[in-house]
Amino acid sequence: MANEQYVQKHYEKVAKNFGLLPTSSMQDPFIRELEIEFVLAQLYNFTHKYGRFPRLLDVGCGNGYLLSVLAEFFPEMELTGLEYSPDLFKLCQQRKLPGINFIHGDMRKASDFSEKFDMVITERSLINLLSTKQQNQAIKNIAHCLAPGGHYLMIESFKMPLHNLNIARAQNGLSEIFPSKHNKYLSEGITGKLKGIGLNEVYGELPKDSLSTHFFLSRVFHPITRNSTTKNKYSMLNHFFDEALPLGVGQFSPILFRVFEKELS
Ligand SMILES: C[S@@+](CC[C@H](N)C(=O)[O-])C[C@H]1O[C@@H](n2cnc3c(N)ncnc32)[C@H](O)[C@@H]1O
Repeated sequence: MANEQYVQKHYEKVAKNFGLLPTSSMQDPFIRELEIEFVLAQLYNFTHKYGRFPRLLDVGCGNGYLLSVLAEFFPEMELTGLEYSPDLFKLCQQRKLPGINFIHGDMRKASDFSEKFDMVITERSLINLLSTKQQNQAIKNIAHCLAPGGHYLMIESFKMPLHNLNIARAQNGLSEIFPSKHNKYLSEGITGKLKGIGLNEVYGELPKDSLSTHFFLSRVFHPITRNSTTKNKYSMLNHFFDEALPLGVGQFSPILFRVFEKELS
């Protein structure tokens, strides 16, 4: 099956199996919650700096879960979601959230980005584009639709921290984790490309490696302590140490929280 068709089939199944649930596309509740915390923190930062809400676009918005949470927090904010999968797009529409504009579109197509936004989010969606060329096209479109001073919140998976995680796993006799077939993880070089199109990396309200402790606990420590009869991946043991330890120790989380600011001129 061609790569793109594989991604499409995957999201057809996700839409069917998870419907409007928050676990659609992310079954680990800790990651989902921290991603939301990061977006909310950036929204408070933006409103504090500019004295108004940003016009916000979620690119690859899935079943619209993140936007539905944001609409609850800030009913007066202008929210737009762009989604490629017809099944997930239908789910977005089923939410019947009148304040949100859902677009059935493709992040690779410049013509699907017709408006300007102050904040653009990709939450594990850029990695669904399976070639560097397509990923570059999408970031160009994102850069183009951002207003000067606007923020791009990139919540995406990177190769290097996955490599670190796999070293720690190998040291403890655990097998290598590979990205799923529907994902192409990013290289650090993407920050240079973003800079070249006017998007400079700035510090976010949460450290970019915020999920590192959690990844180490859930993908190294927990598998070592689990016996073969334990099925629960997201157990109380994990939860206990997530609470007990500081966030973001080391560089073991493939998913990074990054913020890029569009140049003023
Ligand atoms: C990992 S899911 C994340 C969805 C949502 N952000 C969430 O966290 O639940 C990636 C999303 O990107 C969408 N996507 C993939 N390729 C796309 C494209 N070319 N244009 C727009 N969306 C796309 C997928 O259909 C999917 O909904």
